[in-house]
Parts: sequence; structure tokens; C-alpha cells
Amino acid sequence: MANHFTVLGIETGCDDTAVALVHSNGPTQARIIAAHTLTQYQHAVYGGVVPEIAARAHLDALPPVLQALLAQHLQRVDAVAVTTGPGLIGGLIAGVSLAKGLATAWQVPLLAVNHLTAHALSVRIENDVAYPYLMLLTSGGHCQLLVVHAHDTLELLGTTRDDAPGEAFDKVAKLMGLPYPGGAALEALAKQGNAARFAFPRPNFGANSGDFSFSGLKTAVLRQWQALPQPVSQIDKADIAASFQAAVADCLVARTRYAMGVFCAQYPQAARVLGTAGGVASNQTIRAQLQALCAREGFAFVAPQPTLCTDNGAMIAYVGLEQLRNGATGSVHCAPYAR
Ligand code: KG4
Ligand code: ZN
Repeated sequence: MANHFTVLGIETGCDDTAVALVHSNGPTQARIIAAHTLTQYQHAVYGGVVPEIAARAHLDALPPVLQALLAQHLQRVDAVAVTTGPGLIGGLIAGVSLAKGLATAWQVPLLAVNHLTAHALSVRIENDVAYPYLMLLTSGGHCQLLVVHAHDTLELLGTTRDDAPGEAFDKVAKLMGLPYPGGAALEALAKQGNAARFAFPRPNFGANSGDFSFSGLKTAVLRQWQALPQPVSQIDKADIAASFQAAVADCLVARTRYAMGVFCAQYPQAARVLGTAGGVASNQTIRAQLQALCAREGFAFVAPQPTLCTDNGAMIAYVGLEQLRNGATGSVHCAPYAR
């Protein structure tokens, strides 16, 4: 396939129905032509994503979201890329079914995309980042330190042993009665708080591990919350939020620093680049601290704009685009998987 082509990306793995058209401008460049994301706020009353509600909401949202995208951008689509997993199976089935239908009708390749690979490659969409690079993927379902060697080759340097940071943000936000999804609301509250007031735990598994743990932090916040005069005042809430966020940021920075050492030792020829993405990477405090770490350690810091950090269709289309550049022809047999 020539270097100029357009890929439609479809993402339905969690609570965002997202589609995007990404155009390949040459052997390495890409441009987002259009993108639409519809976040399912139906889950707010439950304080977490309800799988069946998510699946039905994707089914409802996909046609109008796709229509809005294609109505304005009538160029030929050369391939359809879709998230096949990991994620919530009902939503994935909705997205994959639509993708199969479109690819069949348009007679173009159908490309299966792994959700985590898509987050890991998202730093390349709008930035010139060469393989291999170091990546911190931090979202509602995952926390991983990776070396990204190629569009289909990721090396794991560390992961969470229990909760993901976004999950911890959401649970702490729920405890404090903040609206779902809690990450952004908790960040806003933390801006008014004192991050040094509560000393929450920052677990680490020794000098030779890039692993994370966030469940102890969540429990420590709960205990502190219960120990405060009830109902908890606005000042106490803000201090909890700020102290919690500081603990998450410290854990991410410390483990990323460890991974930088491994990356430099194992790949001395590689450019020193740290990418970060996933919903939690849209947090301004966390971004600023990672950026400061990069400045100290001599790494370039690349973080996509917040709409490309949370789940989006462009990152799915981009992986499809990379697959095509590497000779993929697609398959109609791609099947969704939860894990
Ligand atoms: O990447 P994402 O959209 O979905 C997953 O693949 O998980 O990440 C969603 C997660 C949620 O847990 C949400 O609370 C968190 O990212 N999040 C944030 C912020 N914005 C979203 N966490 C902290 N600060 C934020 N500003
Ligand atoms: Zn995600």
C-alpha cells in the first residue's frame, strides 16, 4: 500500500464510544482528520462502569457517532481498525461487529488492535518519536512501564500488582462523593488542598522492580477519611485529594526513574524519550512531575493532549495505520477478548 491512506478507528472497550479518521501522510507522519468520542455518563449513579449498560450504550451510540464522522469527511476509507481487547466484552462485541460490517461492505482490510498497544503508540500520533522508547501507561485498568520496540513489540518493565492508578482515583473520588468519573474531579479538588498534610504510603518493591501497588494507598485514604470529624469538611476533603494525588505521582515518578535506568543500560544507543498516556496521564500534576523527572534524567518528555490520553478512536486508527505500513492485510476473523 502507498504511504497515503486513511484508516477508521473504532474504540468501545470501556465507557467511551470513540471513532476517528487518521490519515497517513508519508512513511512516518500521521494526521487526525476527525474524531468523535461519546463518554457514557449513564454509569455515574452506580459510581463505576456497569458492563451491560456499557454494551447497550455503545450499541446506541455507534451509529450517530460514526454518522457524524463520515458526514463531514467523505474521503475513501482504506481500512477499518477496531479494538478487540482487553476490555468489557459486551462493548467490544458491539465495536467489532460494526467494524466487520463496514470492512465487508467497503471491501477493505479489517485490522484488530490491542487497547494497550494503542495507548502505548498514541505518543507517536502527533510527535516524531522513534522506536524504541520508554512508555508509562497509566489508566483506569492498567499501569505499565514498557519499552516500545515496534508497533507490535512491547517489552514490559513493570506493572501494577493490584489496582490501577485510575481505579484508585475513581474509588477515592467515590468515597468523597465526587461525580463519576472521578479522576478529573479529584484533580480539581486537589488544587485547593495541602499535599503535605497526610503521609499516605508509597509502596515499592525494592531497587530491582518496576512494579506498582495502589490498593494499600486506597485503604490508607479510607482509614484517614473515617478518622476525620464527620461530615468531612471541604478543607479536609481537598487535603485528602491533594495528599492522595501526591502519593500516586510519587509512585509513578519513582518507578519511572527505575525504568529509565533499565532503558539506558539495555538500549544505550536509543534516544532517551519517555512517553506517557492513558487517562491518568491527563492529570496536570502528574504530567508536571514526570516532566521534571525527564529534565533531571536527560529524557525528552512526550505526552499527548488530554483527549488522546483518555480512550479515543485516533489511537486505534493509528495502530491500524502502523500495521498497514508494515504489510498487514487484515483478517475478518478477529475476535474480541476480555483479558
Ligand atoms: O485510559 P482511560 O480513558 O480508560 C482506560 O483504559 O482505563 O482512563 C480512564 C481513567 C479513569 O480511571 C479516570 O478517572 C482517570 O483515567 N482519569 C484521571 C484524570 N482523567 C481521567 N485520573 C487522574 N486525573 C485526571 N485528570
Ligand atoms: Zn484505555
